[in-house]
Amino acid sequence: MNRFTEICLLLHACILLYSGNMNQALMYDHSATTECLVEPQTVQYGGGIINNPDFNNGIKGWMVFGQGKVEQRKTQRGNMFIAAFDRKHLSDSFSQTVQLVKGKLYALSAWIQISGGRETVSVVFRTPGGGLLHGGAVIAEHGCWSMLKGGIVANFTGPADLLFKIRNTDAEIWADNISLQPFTKKQWRSHQDKIIAKERKSNVKFHVSYGNKTAISDARIMIKQTKSAFPLGCEINQNILNSTAYQNWFTSRFTVTAFGNEMKWYSTEKIRGQENYTIADAMVEFVEQNNISIRGHNIFWDDPKYQPDWVPSLAPEELQKAAEERIESVVLRYKGKLIAWDVVNENLHFRFFEDKLGENASAAFYASAHQLDQSPLMFMNEYNTIENSEDEAATPAKYVEKLKNILLYPGNDCLPAGIGLQSRFGPGQPNLPYMRAAMDILAAMKFPLWLTEAFVDKGENQAQYLEEVLREGYSHPAVEGIVIWPTSPFSECKMCLTDKNFQNTPNGDVVDELIDEWSCKPMEIATSHEGFSEISLFHGDYEVTVTHPDTKSSTTMNLKVTKDNSENSVYVQMNAFVPHACYTAII
Ligand SMILES: *[C@@H]1O[C@H](CO)[C@@H](O)[C@H](O)[C@H]1NC(C)=O
Ligand SMILES: *[C@@H]1O[C@H](CO)[C@@H](O)[C@H](O)[C@H]1NC(C)=O
Ligand SMILES: *[C@@H]1O[C@H](CO)[C@@H](O)[C@H](O)[C@H]1NC(C)=O
Ligand SMILES: *[C@@H]1O[C@H](CO)[C@@H](O)[C@H](O)[C@H]1NC(C)=O
Ligand SMILES: *[C@@H]1O[C@H](CO)[C@@H](O)[C@H](O)[C@H]1NC(C)=O
Ligand SMILES: *[C@@H]1O[C@H](CO)[C@@H](O)[C@H](O)[C@H]1NC(C)=O
Ligand SMILES: *[C@@H]1O[C@H](CO)[C@@H](O)[C@H](O)[C@H]1NC(C)=O
Repeated sequence: MNRFTEICLLLHACILLYSGNMNQALMYDHSATTECLVEPQTVQYGGGIINNPDFNNGIKGWMVFGQGKVEQRKTQRGNMFIAAFDRKHLSDSFSQTVQLVKGKLYALSAWIQISGGRETVSVVFRTPGGGLLHGGAVIAEHGCWSMLKGGIVANFTGPADLLFKIRNTDAEIWADNISLQPFTKKQWRSHQDKIIAKERKSNVKFHVSYGNKTAISDARIMIKQTKSAFPLGCEINQNILNSTAYQNWFTSRFTVTAFGNEMKWYSTEKIRGQENYTIADAMVEFVEQNNISIRGHNIFWDDPKYQPDWVPSLAPEELQKAAEERIESVVLRYKGKLIAWDVVNENLHFRFFEDKLGENASAAFYASAHQLDQSPLMFMNEYNTIENSEDEAATPAKYVEKLKNILLYPGNDCLPAGIGLQSRFGPGQPNLPYMRAAMDILAAMKFPLWLTEAFVDKGENQAQYLEEVLREGYSHPAVEGIVIWPTSPFSECKMCLTDKNFQNTPNGDVVDELIDEWSCKPMEIATSHEGFSEISLFHGDYEVTVTHPDTKSSTTMNLKVTKDNSENSVYVQMNAFVPHACYTAII
């Protein structure tokens, strides 16, 4: 600790003032919208490192990129923006050269409109060597402004051209309030830590007194966490049924799971009309016995490759009937046992059911599933939405569009929807600013986000990147659960958490360290003169033992610390002379 912070610690106000000012400039801005707005919004971070971000100085700082033309325009209300027109190629637009610093994280936002139609506009950073860093995309339309939110991690130091792309060369690209804000890794981490402290923990106040309300000072309060409230889980497969090593490794760490393949249609009905749930049932029973929650994965998978062998050749009416039987069978079988269903897996990348049964096929399955079992959250479950800024098939904007369509379908207006984000990252540096921006956009839908299949492909820094992905997920306020999706140690080990003997790999160590970091170690605190003590605890279940300072009589209680009771207060009453003290806990 240096002298300056030491002095500050004595002067509490000084720290608040100092860190308060610092954070204002650097705090990440989570605001995002999925609406196309006629009333536009302000520029984030004052534009960050962008020169003339709001075009109030004409097009100063901006250039023509490619062959089109670029000019400043004015809305009827007098707001200035930039327009690229007479475009010939998809990347003909306006650009600005920005200086990137290797390793820095860049949060990007812009308001986009096109002169006609409705299409995906994406943003890229072009390096002097011609390499492209993809910063994100939005579906833009005419008549209103859409928010593009994204980001990059710079993999080199030097200049890059920020520019916009749209396939349709007839459309003009319009933009306003373009912002690019750099963060160091340290600043990013500090923001994560602040969110974790705010969103995942609550202050608990203990008041210890005699029956006559006189405070007891110096009473000892032993606090032991017995369960975490944040669902952190791991996918399992059928090998768990006959391996106690696997069972012990899994049950001692996780509170939620999903099965790799065992609930899928191709596993439970290999032959038409011959359902076999033996393995899935046994796994459900095992998991239930250990009080671990289950995400049902999945009812349908929209990828034509992963249908039961007999399904692709069915005529539409037959498929409709078979699908109805499937959904009824599996949903009723596990009714009341699951916290979630992945109803139609990967329905952004694929459209097997839409092609065969019509545009509303997925939407209808969500309605049926919810009608059969009201309690599970009904999820979309997609890859590349937060992990890949380049894949235009599953951008946050497309995710939002699909989910809105599902919700508009008759019967789905009150659907308890869930936003499933597979989070299957490649082997390189995860694009955390993009991941966060994508989650911000999706969070604007106000449904819970889950990282459902967290995975980082094999590469040099796999364990470190896995940690970065899990931490980014945990520190997003809208994320309500994470399931890690390792590959089985019995098969090709792309991301094993353990070896064949269930000893941790470095990836497994990362997971254990995070579980440890996100829970409270057993601790003892003492009450003040006022019989009072306050502490910040991770949400979860606790066993609390309060011991009288003189008589050493003690009382033990269970305590649930939740987010909703942000003013948790626990009142403990003790009797001075009776060895078994009585208590009341008000939570
Ligand atoms: C850009 O921000 C200004 C205020 O700073 C606002 O008046 C303007 O409408 C915004 N433009 C868009 C397209 O959001
Ligand atoms: C940075 O990443 C981009 C996109 O993956 C790639 O094209 C480029 O070669 C990389 N540059 C360096 C210096 O690694
Ligand atoms: C309350 O009870 C405690 C323990 O019996 C006693 O020491 C204390 O004096 C009492 N206080 C009042 C105000 O009666
Ligand atoms: C457990 O059973 C699976 C088949 O369900 C088998 O492949 C595996 O080898 C068995 N493992 C052990 C440890 O017996
Ligand atoms: C169902 O599956 C189990 C496990 O694979 C197998 O042992 C059993 O023979 C199957 N039952 C039928 C009727 O095929
Ligand atoms: C599961 O929860 C029940 C009820 O809370 C409890 O009695 C039981 O001991 C728990 N089982 C395990 C394996 O934790
Ligand atoms: C899909 O459902 C919507 C209602 O959500 C309806 O307006 C539309 O006509 C349906 N489309 C098809 C192809 O059935």
